[in-house]
Amino acid sequence: MRHLLEIDDLTVDELRAVLELAGRDPASVPNLLTGLGVACYFAKPSSRTRNSTEMAVVQLGGHPMYIGDDEVRIDERESAEDVARTLACYHRIICARVFSHETLVRMASVDAAPVVNLLSDAGHPLQAIADVLTIEAEFGSVRDRHVIYVGDCNNVARSLTLAVATLGGRMSLAAPAGYRFSDVNTGRLAAAGADFGYLDRPDDVQDADVVYTDTWVSMGQERDRDRRLRDLQEFQVDEAMLERNPSAIFLHCLPAHRGEEVTDGVLDGERSRIWVQTAQRLHAVRGVLHWLVDSEGR
Ligand code: CP
Ligand code: NVA
Repeated sequence: MRHLLEIDDLTVDELRAVLELAGRDPASVPNLLTGLGVACYFAKPSSRTRNSTEMAVVQLGGHPMYIGDDEVRIDERESAEDVARTLACYHRIICARVFSHETLVRMASVDAAPVVNLLSDAGHPLQAIADVLTIEAEFGSVRDRHVIYVGDCNNVARSLTLAVATLGGRMSLAAPAGYRFSDVNTGRLAAAGADFGYLDRPDDVQDADVVYTDTWVSMGQERDRDRRLRDLQEFQVDEAMLERNPSAIFLHCLPAHRGEEVTDGVLDGERSRIWVQTAQRLHAVRGVLHWLVDSEGR
């Protein structure tokens, strides 16, 4: 059974297939999920991911069901494995946003229904697919485009790196020591001949086609907020950084923390593509759900 917990659950060809499905006209996609449910479990808040996932299920003819953690309480009321087995009795696909990535791995391990990662501490693959769609819409292709992610090498950065670098883009991460990946699938990156590396200083952010940032304090890291803001303050994406990258567009997965990782001027500036990127979330998750159902045979 196929699951999508991280971009590297897909071969590069499969990732391209998902992107192709995501690019199809929503009006012409088949009703693959007629009469079927998709469980949408959230242990953390969400705006974009919940709304795009629920509406993608509707576009595929199915019924999305929001499940808050106050009801299911994974590993308090019931184990992650038993939650997956239970939801699979009623739903074709289980989508879940969790704190620990290991929770997703355990839910997928019982192979009761395909599991899709709606964000964990390790990755955010649906965001990365939307990001690639946004870059393709701007430049035609990710290949040979230089994407520089600035700030904390977090879940969003990891999935973005796996997607961009294995599709032939050049991926740089500008982050201070202590905020770089503790682990990333270097085997996958090497196998794809990926162009991937770190930049030490904010001034090194140059020659970018895309400048990307995300919050310095991800959900679950709130206790470290003061230290993180102090350590990362030089890595704010501001107008001066964009001026050093005159042909770059700006991306952010959102929610943005205006005045922290990015300035208002950049977010609302003419080179910002954040609302195109937000809209692509719907197409990305529809493409993933379409691919998952197709890959197992309808
Ligand atoms: N980018 C993103 O995943 O946003 P939400 O947390 O609002 O879903
Ligand atoms: N890195 C952020 C992304 C939010 C969409 C977080 O995990 O909170």
